[in-house]
Amino acid sequence: MKVIVPANNKGGVGKTKLSILLSEYFSVVLGKKVLAIDFDPQCNFSQRFLSMEIDPASPGGKIPPIYPEYNPKEFEGIGPEGRSSIADIFFGGLVYPYETYIENLDVTPAHADRLLEAESVRRSEVLEKVHKQLGLFLDMPDLKEMYDVVIIDTAPSKGPLTISAIKAATHMVIPSIMEEQPIQGVYGMLQLWKQEALCREPSKPLKLIGVLPNMFRPINLHRDMLQSLRETDFVKQYIMPVSLGARASFSEVDAEGAKPESIFDLPDSSKAKEEALAVCKYIAQNVFEGD
Ligand SMILES: Nc1ncnc2c1ncn2[C@@H]1O[C@H](COP(=O)(O)OP(=O)(O)O)[C@@H](O)[C@H]1O
Ligand SMILES: [Mg+2]
Repeated sequence: MKVIVPANNKGGVGKTKLSILLSEYFSVVLGKKVLAIDFDPQCNFSQRFLSMEIDPASPGGKIPPIYPEYNPKEFEGIGPEGRSSIADIFFGGLVYPYETYIENLDVTPAHADRLLEAESVRRSEVLEKVHKQLGLFLDMPDLKEMYDVVIIDTAPSKGPLTISAIKAATHMVIPSIMEEQPIQGVYGMLQLWKQEALCREPSKPLKLIGVLPNMFRPINLHRDMLQSLRETDFVKQYIMPVSLGARASFSEVDAEGAKPESIFDLPDSSKAKEEALAVCKYIAQNVFEGD
């Protein structure tokens, strides 16, 4: 089972967008069994595939819908009120992935308050209580049998949840806009990757697929930034040869009730679709190389 994590501690660089594209590509285009996990308390990734609800206990926070056909007798260990989220792994609960309108794609959503609560444990306990939990969950034999690929969306942070996702990953991608602030995030993530990769057992490597230039525009700022990354030692070998332009279609498909729902349902003449296919294909080739 492959576990892919888009990460960058800067917000708005395309982590969620890439998580959505990869989930759709692996399930719809490649026919793989995919589990999408939302590890960001903002719940944007969950919202893409499920009708998330407003948390009455915490306005502004989102919670998953009640699990279909939930009844208290049959759903042992499920989250509060029969709402299942990935946060339940931090509270000794069981996770019940939700089916989506895509046949091969299941989702385990975020739960804003419970994820934040999980992350707020004492520093001395973070390692045991947060860092290791996702890895343990993904190591369950039943889960490994059910899914070929797991995509984990992360929050714009280097906090314990993001570390937990990186520790559970087999592959990492760093999306970034070609601008100063997001590129600082790239350097931070490259360091995190290196630290984690160095302490992995040889049989469980963490591969860096690379840095994905996103929302790329044909302006000097973006061209120059990309060029200078391609000339910088240590970084240059990680810049992916594919990129996503800043295109209206990428944000249009996110609107509620948008048609088509997916970039991959656009006509073949769409530039956005062409780029998304190239990026996802590149990532898929890297993920499955040697298999
Ligand atoms: N290549 C792109 N072209 C146009 N809009 C994009 C592109 N990538 C992302 N977006 C939009 O930019 C916003 C931020 O992207 P998002 O994936 O949510 O970033 P992050 O998860 O890193 O915070 C979203 O509204 C998304 O739809
Ligand atoms: Mg996001």
